[in-house]
Amino acid sequence: MPRTEFIATGFYVPPRVVTNDELAVMMDTSDEWITQRTGIKQRHWVEPGTMCSALAHQATRQALERAGLQATDLDCIIFATATPDHFFPGNGVFLQRMLGVTDIPALDVRDQCTGFLYGLSVADAWVRTGQYRRVLLVGAEIQSPGLDPSTAGRDTAVLFGDGAGVVILGPTDDPKRGVLSTHLFSDGRLAEKLWMDGPGLMHVPWISAEMIADGRARIKMEGREVFKHATTKMPESVQLALQTNGLSIADIKLLIPHQANQRISEMVQKQLGLRDDQVFNNIQRYGNTTAASIPIALHEALDHGRLSRGELLMLTAFGSGFTWGSAAIRW
Ligand code: ACO
Repeated sequence: MPRTEFIATGFYVPPRVVTNDELAVMMDTSDEWITQRTGIKQRHWVEPGTMCSALAHQATRQALERAGLQATDLDCIIFATATPDHFFPGNGVFLQRMLGVTDIPALDVRDQCTGFLYGLSVADAWVRTGQYRRVLLVGAEIQSPGLDPSTAGRDTAVLFGDGAGVVILGPTDDPKRGVLSTHLFSDGRLAEKLWMDGPGLMHVPWISAEMIADGRARIKMEGREVFKHATTKMPESVQLALQTNGLSIADIKLLIPHQANQRISEMVQKQLGLRDDQVFNNIQRYGNTTAASIPIALHEALDHGRLSRGELLMLTAFGSGFTWGSAAIRW
């Protein structure tokens, strides 16, 4: 059975940069508070009306160009997002339409910050079994239109950014390279610790001005619970990926954790005993871009020469659900 390799990456963020100082004009916060608690200095936010699928389209065009492929060479689209353009259909078909391709499947993944890893696991299985040879895997988000940029929403509004990262995956016959394993988990008992209650079809009516006014259509997060679980589950899943493949911490060339919060990433690094040069973070410039954070960071890490052929890449994520997981990849 072939292994799955990364053929190319692409990323795109909207041009508008929003600094911490700009947020401090909109709400009662400060650059100092945000920097100390999260490590974030700025994020990119879309102009009103820009769609998540449009960000993904820009990132996909870059990846196709880097791969020397046409959109018609793709066999399948997997689109991970927590912020779709519409309730349904999912963003995969809208991206497909923008790419001008028809008759290939488009799968939408709803696992929030862990969505890219869930998508990678599915893509890996499809590539290894030969079902699809060229899989486009997307992580894309526009969080900003759903945030409350007033003091009432400051606990989450300062965290999130917009952006898209994509990878094109395909088979390699080199037995030493490619995705070694993926490890996925969830625990629905903790669903309400980080969630958006509405709009939703369990509500009657399923959307209302009242729901918007009382904050049920905004992200709700118990920050300390997220911190506690994220800093436990991500290191555990990295250890599991290492054990599964007979590898150790010293073998890791680069760990890319989901860019949730710089303090979470630092704690994960500490728990695992990794050196600074073994971990890649770029949350300072993009904030938390949910499903897009790992593919954006991967693209930048590669462009910065942080990973060479044959080296060990580890990915790990944690998010709403709670969901979490890891992947071990021999680059
Ligand atoms: N600016 C200024 N003050 C703020 C802000 C803000 N943006 N947000 C909250 N505060 C205030 C609170 O109102 C509170 O004020 P009070 O004491 O007068 O009530 C004070 O700061 C402390 O609030 P806490 O919630 O107790 O602060 P805590 O020390 O727990 O830090 C934080 C909050 C940074 C969210 C922390 O819990 C954390 O790091 N959690 C991890 C959550 C996270 O980063 N999630 C990322 C998104 S989810 C994901 O990707 C998996």
